[in-house]
Amino acid sequence: MSDLLALAYPYVKAFHIMAVMSWMAGLFYLPRLFVHHTEQAEVGSEMDRTFQMMEQKLLRLIMNPAMIATWIAGLCLVFTPGIVDWSSVWPWTKAAAVLVMTWFHHWLGLRRKDFVAGTNTRPGRTYRMMNEVPTLLMIVIVLSVVVKF
Ligand code: HEM
Repeated sequence: MSDLLALAYPYVKAFHIMAVMSWMAGLFYLPRLFVHHTEQAEVGSEMDRTFQMMEQKLLRLIMNPAMIATWIAGLCLVFTPGIVDWSSVWPWTKAAAVLVMTWFHHWLGLRRKDFVAGTNTRPGRTYRMMNEVPTLLMIVIVLSVVVKF
């Protein structure tokens, strides 16, 4: 099994990066949609329903599969012999940031349900601020895997 993982390493890493890009695209875009949904669409309006449809498709068709693919490929890389040195700092900073990113994904999923139920009480400003979370995490993650401190 570890021989197979070593052989597949460059392909798994390429797949991991592609999945990460798709996941990140959604993590950047969904809170932006929530800002406009909050500020421009009245509950029950045609625009409300349009935003709900866009948010549902983004989450279900792109973000959820991309998150799962990122995790599967990432864990394959973790189990590839010689790739992760747990005595370094970088695997821990990366793991912490990835866990927060996964929490953020689920937080967005819960907020989408608020919009569906017509019970969103958060102002656009909250979603604007939360929009910065994936950017900060991306900086930590990319520095971790590339600089490998
Ligand atoms: C979801 C759980 C994740 C796990 C378990 C995971 C694990 C890993 C591992 C073990 C590597 C191999 C490092 C190496 O080859 O030296 C890697 C590479 C990489 N990961 Fe992740 N990762 C995850 C999520 C992410 C996320 C969310 C991002 C970006 C925001 C990301 C970006 C990258 C990049 C850019 C590389 C290639 C680094 C390089 O070799 O230059 N990963 N990942």
